[in-house]
Amino acid sequence: MNVIAGMNDTLNDKFDADENEAGERIEYGSYEATVEKSRQLEKNLAEQPGNYRVLTGDRPTGRLHIGHLFGSLQNRVRLQNLGVRTFIVIADYQVLTDRDMFENISDNVRNLVIDYLAAGLVPAEGKTCIFPHSHVPELNQLLLPFLTLVSNAELDRNPTVKEEIQASGLKRINAGMYTYPIHQAADILFCKANVVPVGKDQLPHLEMTRIIARRFNERFAGSKPVFPEPQPLLSKAPVILGLDGSQKMSKSRNNTIMLSASEDETAALLKKAKTDSERRITFDPVSRPEVSNLLMLISLSTGEAPENIAERIGDGGSGQLKKMLTETLNEYLRPIRTRRRELESDTGFVRTVLRSGIREAREVAEQTLSEVRHVMNMDI
Ligand code: TRP
Repeated sequence: MNVIAGMNDTLNDKFDADENEAGERIEYGSYEATVEKSRQLEKNLAEQPGNYRVLTGDRPTGRLHIGHLFGSLQNRVRLQNLGVRTFIVIADYQVLTDRDMFENISDNVRNLVIDYLAAGLVPAEGKTCIFPHSHVPELNQLLLPFLTLVSNAELDRNPTVKEEIQASGLKRINAGMYTYPIHQAADILFCKANVVPVGKDQLPHLEMTRIIARRFNERFAGSKPVFPEPQPLLSKAPVILGLDGSQKMSKSRNNTIMLSASEDETAALLKKAKTDSERRITFDPVSRPEVSNLLMLISLSTGEAPENIAERIGDGGSGQLKKMLTETLNEYLRPIRTRRRELESDTGFVRTVLRSGIREAREVAEQTLSEVRHVMNMDI
């Protein structure tokens, strides 16, 4: 056996053994339990929005598409409008965990902000704070104490990181890839967020954040915890499939409709969307995923139940289904796209939004970092 690999195994075994004894292995819990807790949290949020602070975010890898809009953006706008204080981190450092591309980062950041604002996020004090984490040094500094609270073996076991390593096809994996979940804990905890709306793939990261908060409090904070243990909030929106009807909508799979697409481009893309050979339209996500996904998109645009839409189209077939979807989706997106175009031509405004978001995030992060230094006996 390779000596170095053997040594690693021993190290990992040691960490595992220690963690078992201390009862500190990361337990991801069941998905069903998380869904149930989310439901309860959803109720509490509506009743007492002032008790909550939301943080969520995206990597700036490109513009957003309708999967993002229906899957996460609208949920953020809804929480904001309930009166929940909201922070949105643009995770620009995280882009470099699985790719070398950095030429487009600032352009992608700008376009993300445009998509956010067009979708209805309001960048004002007391509403939503939008910032790229590369501009908030005090947030990034939290990474250093947090790194000492997690073992290598725990980082190695993160299922989402494992999948991303596989998907990237990279031979050389940089240390940022293994450690970004800890950085993500800094993204979340710098503002003491207690709710994080995320998709299923992010749950392992959130569990790590909760553990870091718990370990930090236990180790350093005595009877006055510094950090909350944030709860995941799973979106109620259905997963939107791509226009191929077989996989999740995603830019890398080339099956999306971008928020920035024109009405004609949208019509052309929908014309090519996959359906099936049965003439009569029915809503049946299991055996007719392609047709059902298109019905779901009409439903999201109009609010009508997909079964009723199917009923009305009936023998009109996929031609009529696509025609109806093109019309309703373009109509639904029209105000968003108009606002998008206005914002695109107002670069000064987008920059102002980022500057004030950064200023606010830094104030919050400075305060947290000084509490952290204090409990760690690092005051001078
Ligand atoms: N990892 C997230 C993604 O790839 C992006 C992200 C960074 C994030 N920091 C976050 C999401 C904090 C939620 C909270 O999509």
